[in-house]
Amino acid sequence: EKDGFNSFMEKEIHDQPAAVADTLLGRSDPSGRLILDELRIDAAELKKVNKIIVLACGTAAYAGMVAKYAIENWCRIPTEVELAHEFRYRDPIVDSNTLVVSISQSGETMDTLMAVRYAREQGAKTVSICNTNGSTIPRESDAVLYTHAGPEIAVASTKAFLAQITAAYLLGLYLAQLRGNIFSGQIKDVLADLNKIPEKIQTVLDNAGSLRELARSMKDERSVLFLGRHVGYPVALEGALKLKEIAYIHAEGFAAGELKHGPIALIDEGQPVFVVVPSPRGRDSLHAKVVSNIQEVRARGARTLVIAEEGDEAVRAYAEHVFYVPETPTLLMPLLTTVPLQIFAAELASAKGYDVDQPRNLAKSVTVE
Ligand code: F6R
Repeated sequence: EKDGFNSFMEKEIHDQPAAVADTLLGRSDPSGRLILDELRIDAAELKKVNKIIVLACGTAAYAGMVAKYAIENWCRIPTEVELAHEFRYRDPIVDSNTLVVSISQSGETMDTLMAVRYAREQGAKTVSICNTNGSTIPRESDAVLYTHAGPEIAVASTKAFLAQITAAYLLGLYLAQLRGNIFSGQIKDVLADLNKIPEKIQTVLDNAGSLRELARSMKDERSVLFLGRHVGYPVALEGALKLKEIAYIHAEGFAAGELKHGPIALIDEGQPVFVVVPSPRGRDSLHAKVVSNIQEVRARGARTLVIAEEGDEAVRAYAEHVFYVPETPTLLMPLLTTVPLQIFAAELASAKGYDVDQPRNLAKSVTVE
């Protein structure tokens, strides 16, 4: 069942090219039009949507944060992301023009289910992005967009996360198409880039040797920090969560811009800091800003472990270790930059001798509030 891997988690990390490809499969035509027939909410209703709220917990909420960047960029619909367990306890503003998008691998997470129920009672339209056919959250939603990652056995989520991000992109592109927000040519280009992702994930997997070595050498670390900006921020949060969950190491993810507002005080000699760097080909100065964040922590003694795009030479001067991922537009980068962080966590946890599939104190689906 583990296909020769030592753990389900390793197997599932390697399943990711297929998880993304299968989630994309059959959902667009060759001319670059999205076909999401399963999204059975009236087109007229979807055109009226003036706010999107993404509800989820844990890793799925980080997929939601990535979705926000993409949906706002493509659809120009204000999009909030909220942890499902916080949502209904604060009298949120929800009405019939609100689209609530829940994200859940299991479809059984009680916190997420209760939030979806609450939103529906307030008249919102609800779409579920879910990996488990016929589970409760999709059954209780107006529509469902299934992720096709296949069953995820390891407690720590990997392939479901990438599939959730992929499905959220499809939903964003579909809404943009429906509402005429972006040129159809642009949708076609994004789809073409998305279709190249599975092969690029494979490249990341094939090149992970040095990263595994690094992970094994770090098994006695007590704290690891993760920095990212823009869509790299949720990736940093996810990298930290994986390490906490399976390696029981204190780890924290920060928005890199937040450093000088406090967290930089944590940096001293030898503190390992992963930095997720956006593409240098991006339009704005994001890349330069993150490079200067690397410099800042390095100058204070941090060990800088950098995830960057192939060809990005600017990071080399300040990085102890650079791991390159293939080129892709910034918005799609999480599908590639997450993978090295998953591998790092899995390798480090197994070097410590832990059961990476069944971490202590955690259950695969959290069916209590
Ligand atoms: C992280 C992890 C959890 C889940 C969270 C939501 O590796 O597994 O953070 O992502 O409990 O679970 P689902 O997606 O089933 O609602």
